[in-house]
Amino acid sequence: MGKEIDLLRSLPKTKRNIEKRAEQKDEAVIAISRQFGQEYWDGDRKYGYGGYRYDGRWRAVARDLITHFDLRAGMRVLDVGCGKGFLVKDLMLECPGLEAYGLDISRYALMHCEKELVGRLHLGTAESLPFPDGSFDCVISLNTIHNLTREGALVALREIQRLSGGRAFVQVDSYRTPEEREIALSWIITARFHDYPQGWLKLYAEAGYTGDYYWTIINR
Ligand SMILES: C[S@@+](CC[C@H](N)C(=O)[O-])C[C@H]1O[C@@H](n2cnc3c(N)ncnc32)[C@H](O)[C@@H]1O
Repeated sequence: MGKEIDLLRSLPKTKRNIEKRAEQKDEAVIAISRQFGQEYWDGDRKYGYGGYRYDGRWRAVARDLITHFDLRAGMRVLDVGCGKGFLVKDLMLECPGLEAYGLDISRYALMHCEKELVGRLHLGTAESLPFPDGSFDCVISLNTIHNLTREGALVALREIQRLSGGRAFVQVDSYRTPEEREIALSWIITARFHDYPQGWLKLYAEAGYTGDYYWTIINR
């Protein structure tokens, strides 16, 4: 089994209006958000990011990942659920010569990636990664596999394990207390499966996932 480690600790804390989100959230909003299209990335905040541009915020995370996994020039890294590819870009800036790639289900995100990432980002789903066994030195997946059903997340974890042999890091929506769970339920739009850490760890064991992991916990 891998270990719990907060590799996103250097990300700036996002401002969240939990009450407003809870008021605005309905089935129509959720359905639009789950398309991961223009509205989700660059539309009104009620659908998702509310406008997401490259600002270098992932550089420090990239540094922590490079140190943690001892990544070096020539190695291959895959970011599953890479979105617009900001982390892929920052991994290559922080470690020149590193071969970083991404995969995402959002055509809109890939169509709005940074120019230097063209050809590095693949359109696809985490449940079926179109790469050979053991083909990456490290696989990362941040805030993505909770968008699948429990069964889908199980398959995605098996895929991540298959490509990485367990040199991997997965972060997902979670909560440690009933109060945190209430806040998460108010905030979460796209996630289909979420659980307490022990529920996720059970899933990781079922999937045979041996990589590292951490939780996205929404606080007030
Ligand atoms: C909250 S965003 C996270 C983006 C980025 N990893 C980050 O942490 O900033 C969720 C991402 O999951 C992607 N996604 C949703 N379902 C997916 C699937 N089945 N396979 C791959 N990516 C998926 C979305 O398009 C979106 O880029």
